[in-house]
Amino acid sequence: MAKIRTKYVCQQCGGEHSKWMGKCPDCGAWNTLEEVVDVPQSPAQQRRQSLLGVSPSSNNHHAHTPIVLPQIKPLVQERIPVGYPEMDRVLGGGLVPGSLILIGGEPGIGKSTLLLQVSGEIAKNVGPVLYVSGEESIEQIKMRAERLDITGEQLYLLAAVELDLIIESVNRLKPALVIVDSIQTVLANHLTAAPGSISQVRECTLQLMQLAKTSQIPVLVIGHVTKEGTVAGPKVLEHIVDAVLYLEGERYHSYRLLRGVKNRFGATHEIGVFEMHGEGLIEVTNPSAVFLSDRATNASGSAVVVSMEGTRPLLVEVQALVTPSNFGNPRSTANGIDHNRLVMLMAVLTKRVGLAVGGHDVYANVVGGFNIEEPSIDLGVAAAIASSYREKLIPADMALIGEVGLSGELRAVSRLSLRVHEAAKLGFKRCLIPSAGQGTRLRNEIAESNQSGEFKVITASTLAVALEIALH
Ligand code: TYD
Ligand code: MG
Repeated sequence: MAKIRTKYVCQQCGGEHSKWMGKCPDCGAWNTLEEVVDVPQSPAQQRRQSLLGVSPSSNNHHAHTPIVLPQIKPLVQERIPVGYPEMDRVLGGGLVPGSLILIGGEPGIGKSTLLLQVSGEIAKNVGPVLYVSGEESIEQIKMRAERLDITGEQLYLLAAVELDLIIESVNRLKPALVIVDSIQTVLANHLTAAPGSISQVRECTLQLMQLAKTSQIPVLVIGHVTKEGTVAGPKVLEHIVDAVLYLEGERYHSYRLLRGVKNRFGATHEIGVFEMHGEGLIEVTNPSAVFLSDRATNASGSAVVVSMEGTRPLLVEVQALVTPSNFGNPRSTANGIDHNRLVMLMAVLTKRVGLAVGGHDVYANVVGGFNIEEPSIDLGVAAAIASSYREKLIPADMALIGEVGLSGELRAVSRLSLRVHEAAKLGFKRCLIPSAGQGTRLRNEIAESNQSGEFKVITASTLAVALEIALH
């Protein structure tokens, strides 16, 4: 009789170890190793692994002999548009046949809604869609479809959790698109582990990958993540699937961002913007205009920054409020920006600009529930703080771009020209940028090309100089 072996699998990162340890050596998480029976690989599994290692291209028969680059036929990557340009851009131009894509997000954020809408569009324009749900009954999905105004002549619903049943249905129906909602509910029968556990989630994803590759049908898989990222799944899946998109947004804000974090068929870090309505998610094709629409232009502490989200510049308002601290310990609160960055900017304002913000409570906020990690918004955040502190307005038609260094210098940022032109396009009349890098050249170029003098680029070398200009 074959000896039964056990191994210990980290429920956080999926790392495998031969003995139990308190701390996973791979990801450093504590108490996450669980014992699982190590089933010897079946021939099917071995086939699958070789399948994953080789691209499904027509050049397959050459796989064993080296081939000189010019002789390799380019893969003609046809794309299926999903009916929502905002999502197509994040996908890199639509769905690639045979790709497996993970849509992650917190429960309740709108994953099922988005993919049901996509299903409706594909069913209407491309061909049959199979929507498999282990989360809701088909009656519940029907109700949602009615609310979303999806008729769905070609939209097939299946309430199932068994992987074999799902695969069988796909092979029978041969749909143009498969949705699996969610990977945490799918069950491979030959595994004893509970649904949602690392081994189930990983095995099911591998099999869905094989299904996608052999059938050339694109498969979209939903995966729940909690705020703490504790649920087994998405983090482990990221390595297996072709693309990972996250749907995010503040629960109490109506905007939803679809963000690409991995994409084998396109650029990452693209975002698509949607707004949540009773009738579903509606695309926001000009997000900057929307995010700036309800701006209070006559209040101090407000600045407009230009952040790059993928290939797209995005103008958003940052707000700051500086108030004398009532209780000995001044506090600072950051929403949508890194708190350490806020503290750093306050220190630079104190030491390099001479604004004694130290004894004050400081609140900084990115409007619209956005999270911006880019340092290019430093200047805007610092200016908003100074504006509130001094009770002076930043001109409503001015956009601010620039990273702030510890010496109080303004540092160059990437894609400066693109950002500045986006501000101009949205009707801003002035743009305050660093003179460093391409800044001065860009200012001269725009001054020359723009005879009417409508749009002005102003450069500054330090935060102190920039604040004099913005708050005079
Ligand atoms: P749902 O799509 O079920 O979220 P998830 O699949 O990520 O858990 O959406 C959650 C709730 O929000 C649901 O009750 C419907 C509601 N909702 C709307 O009313 N409009 C919308 O545009 C979206 C996305 C959701
Ligand atoms: Mg759902």
